[in-house]
Amino acid sequence: MNLRPTRRTFLQTGALLVSHALLKNRVFGAIAPRAFDIPLPVPPVLKPTRSDSTTDYYEITQREAWAECLPGVRTKIWGYEGLFPGPTIKARTKRVTKIQQTNRLSVPTVVHLHGGITESASDGFPADVSLPGAVRTYVYSNGGQGRTLWYHDHAMDHTGRNVYMGLAGMYLLEDEESANLPLPRDSYDVPLIIQVRQISQDGELSYNPRGMGEIANTILVNGAAWPRMEVARRKYRFRILNASNATALQLRLSSDRPFLQIATEGGLLPAPLSTETIPLAMAERVEVVIDFSEYPLGARIILENLAGSGDLAQIMRFDVVHNERDDSSVPTQLSHQDAISEHSAVTTRQFVFSGKVQVESPALQWTINGKQFDPNQSLAKPRWGDVEIWEFINDPSGMLSDLHPVHVHDVRFQILDRNRGLPNSTERGWKDTVSLGRGERVRVIMRFDGYKGKFVLHCHNLDHEDRSMMARFDVI
Ligand code: C2O
Ligand code: CU
Ligand code: CU
Repeated sequence: MNLRPTRRTFLQTGALLVSHALLKNRVFGAIAPRAFDIPLPVPPVLKPTRSDSTTDYYEITQREAWAECLPGVRTKIWGYEGLFPGPTIKARTKRVTKIQQTNRLSVPTVVHLHGGITESASDGFPADVSLPGAVRTYVYSNGGQGRTLWYHDHAMDHTGRNVYMGLAGMYLLEDEESANLPLPRDSYDVPLIIQVRQISQDGELSYNPRGMGEIANTILVNGAAWPRMEVARRKYRFRILNASNATALQLRLSSDRPFLQIATEGGLLPAPLSTETIPLAMAERVEVVIDFSEYPLGARIILENLAGSGDLAQIMRFDVVHNERDDSSVPTQLSHQDAISEHSAVTTRQFVFSGKVQVESPALQWTINGKQFDPNQSLAKPRWGDVEIWEFINDPSGMLSDLHPVHVHDVRFQILDRNRGLPNSTERGWKDTVSLGRGERVRVIMRFDGYKGKFVLHCHNLDHEDRSMMARFDVI
């Protein structure tokens, strides 16, 4: 096997270190060595309370609980089933999932299945909250292709706080076709829920929305700070979610070896993509395969965040600890995907994402097409079955500018172009969230063949969303 040197090797080799640092434009000395001493937790898979021929039934209680994010320190969280993150739900296409949610918190909540094609009444419309004590059942029809979804709180004006406190979990939808592929499965198919947080020394989650950027001192993966995962010399599939409120990530392996990306939010790519870095804005998901048989026993590979510095530059570590046989493989063709033709679009709509500073509180206000979110006013009324092009514009002339990950409910889309050029290589599959950097414009195309009714599109910087960077649309 032709191994490229690991960072450790470079650290032992001064001359190489210098050239490598220059090459990557990074100073290794600035990164304090980290222990990576917490074993990576994996959220438990929730068991249905019962199943019949069509449906799996679940019950979840939203409640306050204690979690251990930092070793030996208790952190008060709000969790689905009292867990941080919530339990993973596994679903099959062509079967229905019904989840009875009981709100035992002291605040109103509403649950959204992000990436789901869900009837409006169960989609978590922000104004549609359940009060403390209320019990409510959400119905998910699990349509479309297998993919990695997540569920999280969507309460109007308070989504940021509620998600920060822990109301988020994974939802894995599998279809027959993808289930039959020889990809790594079971304990070799691992969710990585990455969350940037500010945690005080006594363990308190310090939610402090600023509306611009985020103050954070900790990176959590599956609820644990900078964990370590012991892996065998074989392939693993990772389903990576950036569940941070307001921080975009850029993933990279410290070994300089590429990831093999196999999926975007909407499911498997037509073919695997070898890529050394993966930008991952808030709410975006990516699936990768890492083949640890390319490393010797004893190798330690850090999952890095090129978008972060200091404590936020490193996410977790993989330690290659034993040999194991591996029957899995990554087929060269993973799925079929037809591009939606631009000519099939009946209309193009523009959505301008902008911000302003004002005298009244809140001092920062984020808008779409100049408007603050009004749950009673619809900004667009696409007809069911139609194909439309939506152009998202990050207003360069606004008083404020920031990254806006744009998310549209009830549909999946393809990116036609980014700044009139090709989309990034890592985003050329089905998507439900697209990163819109400062001054950027992105066109997406989609067919409104999900559910009719009222839905929202919004910025997935949750501080922006809570400061009204959201719009209702109705599929009629
Ligand atoms: Cu992930 Cu409308 O949300
Ligand atoms: Cu969503
Ligand atoms: Cu935004």
